[in-house]
Amino acid sequence: MNSPSEPTFQLPAGMSTIAPEYDWLYYFIYWAGLILFVAIVGLMLAFVIRYHRSRGHQPKPTESHTAAELIWTFTPLIILVTLFHWGFQGYVRGSVAPDNALDIRVRGKQWLWEFEYPNGYREIGTLKVPVHQPIRLVMSSDDVLHSFFVPEFRWKKDVVPGMYSTMWFEATRTGKAQVFCAEYCGVSHAGMLATVEIVSEAEYEKFLKEGSGPPAGVTPDKWGAMLYTKNNCNTCHSLDGSALVGPSWKGVWGRTETMTDGSSITVDENYVRQSILEPNAKTVRGFNPVMPVYTLQDQQIDALIAFMKTLK
Ligand code: CUA
Repeated sequence: MNSPSEPTFQLPAGMSTIAPEYDWLYYFIYWAGLILFVAIVGLMLAFVIRYHRSRGHQPKPTESHTAAELIWTFTPLIILVTLFHWGFQGYVRGSVAPDNALDIRVRGKQWLWEFEYPNGYREIGTLKVPVHQPIRLVMSSDDVLHSFFVPEFRWKKDVVPGMYSTMWFEATRTGKAQVFCAEYCGVSHAGMLATVEIVSEAEYEKFLKEGSGPPAGVTPDKWGAMLYTKNNCNTCHSLDGSALVGPSWKGVWGRTETMTDGSSITVDENYVRQSILEPNAKTVRGFNPVMPVYTLQDQQIDALIAFMKTLK
């Protein structure tokens, strides 16, 4: 029942404990719908051909037929009650987290997902979780309505400004699952992505102790390029000179920018650092002060700076 499933033509791989039950329900509705459709349309066509007027049939007034009426009333009723019961049971099971669930905070903001672990460590764009452990996500939004959607877990929950919402899952195998934002939230809604990395218990413990440094053998500028995508910087800052929500990073290093208050600033280490940690302290003229606060570690900021320096 709880074994992971392979992707099919209709559904992505099922990677959570509730996925098999949801898939059964999905396929039941799919096949019931298909069979009923073929049967009903098939009968209609057969009757049309068999009883059409040119064959000499004369219409007769229809009289009541108790057995037929009982069948067409109670058959759909039984199907509907079954579907409701099945769906509602699954919904309740998927909504109430087990007592031993591990809480992780999730913050949605235009246009990124930030995760905060029980030890206070924060990361953007990647949610690392241990396999075979129920995880409860306590989610909030810093700005507008978002929705946390992980197709592989078969679960989606709105993330609403001004309140917490929760969802839970227990991953059934290690690997990666894709997070989407499923509620339109502005220009870069489609770029509001994240990855769930399901790892072993030991690897999760190691991650909590050490945080996530650069992968082995990766130079700071290459790591910076990875962080640029992982932290969703790319949804607002292009690399090709085009202006998106924020200034392009092409040739940004050492450039002199005019701020909204008329002062000018040369882009250097301190300006970049401040722009990440207190983004709206100084805004480049022509852009809106809409960048969210990024709680990056110094080492990560250094890597982003190293990456910027390569963008001539
Ligand atoms: Cu956040 Cu769409």
